[in-house]
Amino acid sequence: MISMIWAMDEDHLIGKDDKIPWHIKEDLLYYKSKTAGQDVLMGDVTYFSLKGYYKNRPLPYKTIYLATLDKNLKVEDDNVVIIYDIFEFLKNVDFDLFVVGGRTIYKLAYEYADRLYISLIKGHHEGNVYFPITDFSDFELKSNNETELVNYQIYERVK
Ligand SMILES: NC(=O)c1ccc[n+]([C@@H]2O[C@H](COP(=O)([O-])OP(=O)(O)OC[C@H]3O[C@@H](n4cnc5c(N)ncnc54)[C@H](OP(=O)(O)O)[C@@H]3O)[C@@H](O)[C@H]2O)c1
Repeated sequence: MISMIWAMDEDHLIGKDDKIPWHIKEDLLYYKSKTAGQDVLMGDVTYFSLKGYYKNRPLPYKTIYLATLDKNLKVEDDNVVIIYDIFEFLKNVDFDLFVVGGRTIYKLAYEYADRLYISLIKGHHEGNVYFPITDFSDFELKSNNETELVNYQIYERVK
């Protein structure tokens, strides 16, 4: 099963430079409850941004599949596997994987996703990176839990 998880606001905004445009603790906790200890796929921009947040603490995932085109990229974490050919990798995934961003990797992985976890952040925010897909018609809404700040939606692929 390949799942994608992200947070976007009402304009489909997901980033401000290499950062998240808002700080909503309940959504961070939701994200952690889904992805902690899981195998994840992310792009190198997202990886280095997360390393900035976590400083010397380890990122809370099982294996991090790190997509890059940079053959010289070196990382020190033991649990990182570098992926140069993301399509070959996604075609052969036979375990549960969470795709955790960013924009480029969501776009490339979208057609392989079985499930979407979307945190729809209420309101409009400042930023410059938008979710790359607007048509979710291949997916069906399975659940929607609303709080004051966020709609937590889960979609499953139907086509
Ligand atoms: N709101 C959310 O839930 C959420 C979650 C995560 C991230 N974000 C946001 O997303 C933004 C970052 O997105 P981004 O698109 O700049 O970066 P990204 O998706 O994290 O990483 C993009 C990198 O992937 C590599 N890549 C591109 N094509 C590839 C391929 N075919 N195979 C393997 N690797 C490939 C490239 O690496 P090289 O060019 O370096 O080789 C590229 O720089 C930030 O604003 C961040 O805050 C938001």
